[in-house]
Order: sequence, then structure tokens, then C-alpha cells
Amino acid sequence: MKLLIKGGRLVDPSQNLDAARDILIEDGLVAAVGETLTADADTQVVDATGLVVAPGLVDLHVHLREPGQEAKEDIVTGTKAAVAGGFTTIVPMANTRPIVDSAIIVSGLKERISREALAEVMLVGSVTKGLNGEELSEMGDMAEHGAVAFSDDGRFVENSRLFRSALEYASMFNKPIISHAEDPTLAGDGYMHEGAVSARLGIPGIPAVAEDIAVARDVLLAENTGAHLHVAHVSTKGAVEIIRQAKKRGVKVTAEAAVHHLTLTDEAVSGFSTATKVAPPLRSSEHVQALREGLKDGTLNAIITDHAPHAFEEKDVEFRYAPNGFCGLETALGVILTELYHTGEFSLSEIIGKMSVEPAHIFSLKAGSLKVGMPGNVVLIDLNKEWTVKKENFYTRGKATPYEGKHCRGQAVMTIVRGNVRMKDGEVCVGKQN
Ligand code: DOR
Repeated sequence: MKLLIKGGRLVDPSQNLDAARDILIEDGLVAAVGETLTADADTQVVDATGLVVAPGLVDLHVHLREPGQEAKEDIVTGTKAAVAGGFTTIVPMANTRPIVDSAIIVSGLKERISREALAEVMLVGSVTKGLNGEELSEMGDMAEHGAVAFSDDGRFVENSRLFRSALEYASMFNKPIISHAEDPTLAGDGYMHEGAVSARLGIPGIPAVAEDIAVARDVLLAENTGAHLHVAHVSTKGAVEIIRQAKKRGVKVTAEAAVHHLTLTDEAVSGFSTATKVAPPLRSSEHVQALREGLKDGTLNAIITDHAPHAFEEKDVEFRYAPNGFCGLETALGVILTELYHTGEFSLSEIIGKMSVEPAHIFSLKAGSLKVGMPGNVVLIDLNKEWTVKKENFYTRGKATPYEGKHCRGQAVMTIVRGNVRMKDGEVCVGKQN
């Protein structure tokens, strides 16, 4: 089984490469990278002329909803959405029903993933049993069965003593703890960012300092234990600064920012569309600016989607009753290229670095690089393709998006997973292709 990608511009920051290169994938792995590679009779050839060829995108933060909430999403629809958006590796959070808090659930899910997933899926186990914030999950067992990190995403672990134990424990098997950092006592019953817009709309606000306080505690505990803390969906200026200073002190902390927090402000909530309701909430422009600065100077390591699909009828309610979150896998690359690359703010290497190379590196995933011997996970990108976000074209079950109708420039046009073409020109290819 051989696949040769010919004539493209290879952008692979893991090898410091931005140059014309061909890539040969054999038996699912990168077999050769060279200026001109030739195909033999049994090789499938992909013409990448005019296209960027990059390591497949890696999303460290998605929700697949399986098991238990398949009306929102499942492994098949979620990984279809992933490959449609150029992602070859995704990391779903543990807040399913039941929660991913034991080895048996990790192995059961892995089995389903191996049969059904169109992309690579790496699992996160919960920090506490049932996300109850009271008792640690079977982290050691889950790590042994393949969990790559631990998180109570969706909830802050309020008990500092327990969170410190979690950090100590996870560091024994070199796994990061991902924190969902928000002090719930300060967030109260707010459901958008606290500021001028929330005051105007009469919606109770969540102050930015609720996130800052939680990030500060988590960073201090990481410093205290020497463990690896990964801060999920950073959304405030204060959190960026706390992480920046911690990194300077040598604390083992990494962090991610979501596409929506980098590209939208709380003004988007003005129309009361439930497709703009998310946790943490969309913030004001000074926070968006601080996130971009953090991304630029390396304080923030990864761009993630926080793809959080919900059923149509759950979002089709008054703003205050709607669940947090919306889908993001199929819009992420187009939005980021439009807003951060075509504006001249970030180079293509920086974007591929933040959406593939660095995320793979911080969770020690076998991904994010097209060096010889790495998995043949590739995305082909047409940088100038113009397209408009239309939810009716999504593969995900969760149709809510704050980007509906947005005009984008740049899109993934082919996604290859372990040498199999999984998406071509926007169409997901189910089943083995070659
Ligand atoms: O908006 C969100 N949705 N934020 C979270 O932290 C959880 C997520 C979900 O599971 O729907």
C-alpha cells in the first residue's frame, strides 16, 4: 500500500521545512521525503501542485459524546467532521455518560475507535470519579490502557488538596493534567463575559478574574509538585500573563487557546444567538488581543477547537437555558487562515506549528510531523480557496456555529490518515481507500 504526494509545498515546522517536496507513504508510515520521488506501478499518486502539504492537524480538545449522548455526536460523525476539517488526530474529553474514569471504559472506547474512527483518537481520562470533584479516578490504570492525559473538563476541580494529589499522581506516569480553570464561586450564575456588553444585554456576567484566580492556583500547584499542567481554553488576558510568568520561572505548564476566543468577541452575543454561548465565554477585544500576543510569544502552545456539539433542540431555546458549546472541527482551519494568516499576523509555519506540531509534542502523541517513520497523517491545504460556512454542509451532528455565513479564505482539500485518503475536496471517504 503506497501513496505518493507529488508537487506540493511541504510546510513541516518539525523539520524546519517550507519547500517543494514529495512524500511517499508506505504501509501507513512516511517512507521517504524528497525533492523528486518516483512512483512504481502499484503506487497511488496524489497531485499536490499548488497546494500546501502539512502534517495532519491535531486537536487536543474536542467532545465526541460517545458513550451516552450519541444524539449530539458519536465516534463516526465526530471523526468525519475531523477529517473534513483537516484533522487527523483528535483528543476527546472525558465528560461523556458514563464519564471516562476507569480502565474498562478506556479500553471499550479504544476498541470502538479502532473499528469506527476515520481519524486517530487519543483518549483523556477524568481526574475525579464521575467528575464529582471528590475522589481520584483510576488514573494509573487508565494511563496503562492508553489515556494520554487527565481532565475534569467542563468543571473546575475545586478541592486544592485533591488537585495537588492528581498532579503528583499523573506525573508518576508522565501524563499532563488538563485544567478547566474557572472559580465557580466567582462565575456564579453568569452565562456570558462580564463587561459592557453583558451590562447592555442585561445578562449576568462571568468576570475574567474567575479564570485568572483558577489558573493562578493551578500554576502554583504545578510549580509546587513539578508536574505538567496543561491549561485548557485560556480566554483571559490575566491568565495569559500568569502562564507567561510561570513559564519564565520554569514551571512545567503548557496552554491552549480556542479558535473562537482568538477570533470573536462578546459583541457576537448581542443577537442572543445560542450558537455564541460557550464556556469559557467569548471575551472583549482586549482579551482577544492578549491571547494573540500569547500565541505569538509562545505562552500559548496550541490552537484547539473545543468542538462541543449539542442536539439542535437543546440549542433551540432561550439563551440562558442553552448548553455551552458549539461545533468547531469543520470551521477551525478556514477561520484561522482567514483571521490570523491572510491578515499577515502569523506565518503559515506558525499556524501549522500551533495546530499540529506543538499540540502533538505536548501530549507526546505520535503525530504532528512528516519525518520518515512517522504515521502518514497529512493535510493538503488550498490557501486561497474561498468558501462560506454553511452548517447544512457539516458532517458533525452539532450544527450550532457562531461562524454561520462567514466568508473564509483557505481550506483543507484532502486529509490522509495512515496513508488512507479520508477526505477529498470536502467529501469524506468512508472505508479503506487503498
Ligand atoms: O462550552 C463548553 N462546552 N465548554 C466546556 O467546558 C464543556 C463543553 C461541553 O461539554 O459541551
